[in-house]
Amino acid sequence: MHTSWSFPPSFESSIREALKSFDLTLEDSKALAKCVLALSDYFIQKPDGQTPWHESWAQIAYLAYFLPLNATRLNRLVHEADARGFFEGIEHVIDFGAGLATASLTLSEKHHFKFHLVERSQEPQKLIEKYFTQFKAEEWQKTWGKQNLKDPKKTLALFSYSLTELSDIPDWAYNCEALMLVEPSTQQDGRKLLDLRQKLIDKGYQAWAPCTHQLACPLYSQSKHDWCHDRVHFAAPSWFLKMEEQLPMKNRTLTMSYVLMRKTPAPKILAARVVGDRLEEKGKDRQMVCRSPEREFLAWLHKTGLRQEIPRGVLIDLPADLPKVSNELRVNQEIKVLK
Ligand SMILES: C[S@@+](CC[C@H](N)C(=O)[O-])C[C@H]1O[C@@H](n2cnc3c(N)ncnc32)[C@H](O)[C@@H]1O
Repeated sequence: MHTSWSFPPSFESSIREALKSFDLTLEDSKALAKCVLALSDYFIQKPDGQTPWHESWAQIAYLAYFLPLNATRLNRLVHEADARGFFEGIEHVIDFGAGLATASLTLSEKHHFKFHLVERSQEPQKLIEKYFTQFKAEEWQKTWGKQNLKDPKKTLALFSYSLTELSDIPDWAYNCEALMLVEPSTQQDGRKLLDLRQKLIDKGYQAWAPCTHQLACPLYSQSKHDWCHDRVHFAAPSWFLKMEEQLPMKNRTLTMSYVLMRKTPAPKILAARVVGDRLEEKGKDRQMVCRSPEREFLAWLHKTGLRQEIPRGVLIDLPADLPKVSNELRVNQEIKVLK
């Protein structure tokens, strides 16, 4: 059984209020979908283009579609980070390329950090200050540099869908104790993130999640095509489903690629992480797992009568005595999923 995720409930009334300023409601499915299509077409035509925040259709699309989707992904990610104790000792968050403060809003539901938002466009700040009054930012800045960094040892630099145009994190971020990097789960962005993970490890950071170890990533070093990504089941509200009926893209599950890094050494994880969906093959089912630089699969041979589908992205307790044949760990008992 998988767990379903959504965006924090407090967002809905804020989105509803913000849409009123465009004479829209969440029930105006067709009009909302038209804006979503306009923004997706814009990014298809200009993959490296800046979000056109000055356009009302872009603001509407972000409010009704991209904010709920990204916040749902981030909700799952914050849960994973909390389970690892990742935020311990963190007091400041620099949300770079904050847009509608998606990541800070989601984090602020559970944590009382001082949020420093960096966003080159003005429109998102206006929308957030007017309609998301439950959220209080320490400051909004158009740019950020080393001189702005006051307490790097207690600071998390957060890049939520804002690294795509950069080949590396900015210099000041290397001074920060913690890094949260979230990227679209495409092959190109996902592999770029794995490259950056290795670079950060070489510079002294440790990977806290999703990685279970600090060695080479098997998806990156043992394959030219794979990239690490998680899958989140989206419990969409009815207004979202109605809007989606008008769209060619469906979002019952959402994928995301992320890494959580800190200078503080990561607590040892004795578990393995499931990094693949279940693949049904002749005579067996397989799911990829990660616990070392080796590319390995759990394998359920059909003749054993054992069957299990483990949600992608979770940690599992691997029995020590599973027989290994080539790159397959042959399952002979139920695998325990960890919380
Ligand atoms: C794809 S949006 C992501 C928004 C948000 N972080 C999220 O997760 O939904 C990227 C945002 O980064 C902003 N941005 C891009 N480059 C920037 C820069 N160099 N300085 C400040 N903001 C930047 C853009 O204006 C845009 O709002």
